Amino acid sequence: MGALKGRDLLSLADLSTEEILFLLDLAAQLKSGKVRPRCTNVLGLLFSKASTRTRVSFSVAMGHMGGQVLDLNANLTQAGRGEPIEDTARVLDRYLDVVAIRTFEQSEVETFARYAKIPVINALTDLEHPCQILADLQTVFEAFGTFNGLTLTYFGDGNNIAHSLLLGCALVGLNIRVATPQDYSPLPEIVAKARDIAGDRASVTVTTDPNQAAEGAHILYTDVWASMGQESSADDRVPIFMPYQINAELLALADPAAIVLHCLPAYREKEITHAVMEGPASRIWDQAENRLHTQKALLASVLGLDIA
Ligand code: CP
Ligand code: NVA
Repeated sequence: MGALKGRDLLSLADLSTEEILFLLDLAAQLKSGKVRPRCTNVLGLLFSKASTRTRVSFSVAMGHMGGQVLDLNANLTQAGRGEPIEDTARVLDRYLDVVAIRTFEQSEVETFARYAKIPVINALTDLEHPCQILADLQTVFEAFGTFNGLTLTYFGDGNNIAHSLLLGCALVGLNIRVATPQDYSPLPEIVAKARDIAGDRASVTVTTDPNQAAEGAHILYTDVWASMGQESSADDRVPIFMPYQINAELLALADPAAIVLHCLPAYREKEITHAVMEGPASRIWDQAENRLHTQKALLASVLGLDIA
């Protein structure tokens, strides 16, 4: 889709429904080997937080297409010593063809994007993780062949994953329920945006009742209870979040064909039990693999590569 060439992906809401469906279709073609785009471009990974999947899948995607990757870990660059984002952005813009940024504040990726002309991809901020949700949607589509009439329930913290899921489900018309402890609900402005996007195509429900949220759901999804940067509150959160654990009892309330997703990394016996993670409903490893295909689709699209 030519319309994606040169574009940023800072929030999932930057994409239209048609653009998401296009990326998912391209990801499926890339996964099956039907198309093999080639490039000589350079991707920079400017990461201030740890990463296994995002770092490796972006690197492998670029490698498969013949491009290069530069690891610009904040500890290795002047960015980690306080060089202003505005300056870093204008300099990297002259060297790189695309950049993926993992950081804390959403405003940092927004500032970078304002000062750089190259496509800027949000590789996780405290507010959103759009790349993850593209892979999640590919995994749901592979399992069910549709988004229509399905319900995804997210259990746990109203964090970056919850926010991007709200927007992503709304965009593809997948009903979403978010079940969190009181005081940990997603930001009201993101919920409102998701409702606005969904219109009458899908429902958007926020609740504190995990059992009601699980009833008849087709996809059960969870994430860590304490995100990167919240490590000091991790122990205090355990008793608060335990009722939201994905375990056999919660799964029994869902649709009999329900699948279980987790963006990873996972803490077994905290947000998800070992048995459910390794059980027949889990699609977690396919989900992790799909990071590679969806991000390759995204890179090929924003770089404007010939798809052949
Ligand atoms: N799910 C995810 O983004 O994993 P990493 O933190 O390992 O990149
Ligand atoms: N919510 C988690 C997601 C990790 C991929 C975090 O931000 O640490």
